[in-house]
Amino acid sequence: MTVIHTVTLNIDKEATKSFECSERESILHAGLRAGLPMRYKCTNGTCGECRSRLINGRLQRLQPADSPLSQLERESGWFLSCTHTPKTTLEINAPLFTDSVQIPHQTVHAKVKKIEQLQPGLAQLILRTPRSNTFQFLAGQDVVLSHLSAEHRYPIASCPCNGMELEFHIHQRAHDRFSQLLFSSLKRGERITINGPRGHFLLDERSNRHLIFIAWERGFAPIRSLIDHFISLEMDNPVSLYRVSSERPYLHNHAKSWHAVLEQFDYQWIKSKTDGSTRQLITQLTNPPQRNLSLSSADFYIAAPAEQLIELSEQLITLGIDESKLHGSPL
Ligand code: FES
Repeated sequence: MTVIHTVTLNIDKEATKSFECSERESILHAGLRAGLPMRYKCTNGTCGECRSRLINGRLQRLQPADSPLSQLERESGWFLSCTHTPKTTLEINAPLFTDSVQIPHQTVHAKVKKIEQLQPGLAQLILRTPRSNTFQFLAGQDVVLSHLSAEHRYPIASCPCNGMELEFHIHQRAHDRFSQLLFSSLKRGERITINGPRGHFLLDERSNRHLIFIAWERGFAPIRSLIDHFISLEMDNPVSLYRVSSERPYLHNHAKSWHAVLEQFDYQWIKSKTDGSTRQLITQLTNPPQRNLSLSSADFYIAAPAEQLIELSEQLITLGIDESKLHGSPL
């Protein structure tokens, strides 16, 4: 029988986060699965990057390793979260990335696990990294993918809770040689180099405000990463998702399925016209289905082409939205 314990991590003097960890998995792995930006590098007990401190409870060693910790450190409660699992309920201190600038730049060679066409001219690409060299990033960030001499920058569409499998939504475009390769010759098992991560389009995890996500046309990838991360953190803010597109949005049913896991969630597709889409969106935002939604008490996460992002941000500021509550990712 798998025994599961609760691990409580002290984030700072005021905040803690608890997550479940079975006696068969490492505390590091369980914390990442719960959406925590835990520091790590090797995952096999050699680098010391995941050095954590036991405050209460008992640990057990999951895998033998030449610990970089001294005996004195071990006797003082220091341990490696990648090689240890709980034996009882635990309280620990562990190092977290608190900002995108702390995440080291990485070059990881991954393999194509899956390529699937989502719509004509739009493909889902899933890359799998080696188990010993997973990719660390924060939800909402992007990377440069390269293969042969083609490279391009794309937002990651998946959640950092699984650094071994990264998902991308790639549109075929003439000036994007990587997308041309993807649509013409790239095959399962081929090697892709991932460089990054970059970007500051990050979820404010301390916010208890209404979260409004706006994905304009092909801007769904970073929004999906943020919402999946929100779900893994088990945050309970009300969430609204607006998708602006001329055609039925891709992964429309997937977005609708978030109703099943988010208690307060509403989702609307705004069928865009050649022009006037910003006005349509503002009309929807100012007449929300939830009567109690006040725009001034919301945080906005907008992934849109630069022109629409600027126009929409200006209109929201005109409506009294504080600029600090606007988070934008230009496509
Ligand atoms: S991640 Fe390297 S020692 Fe744990």
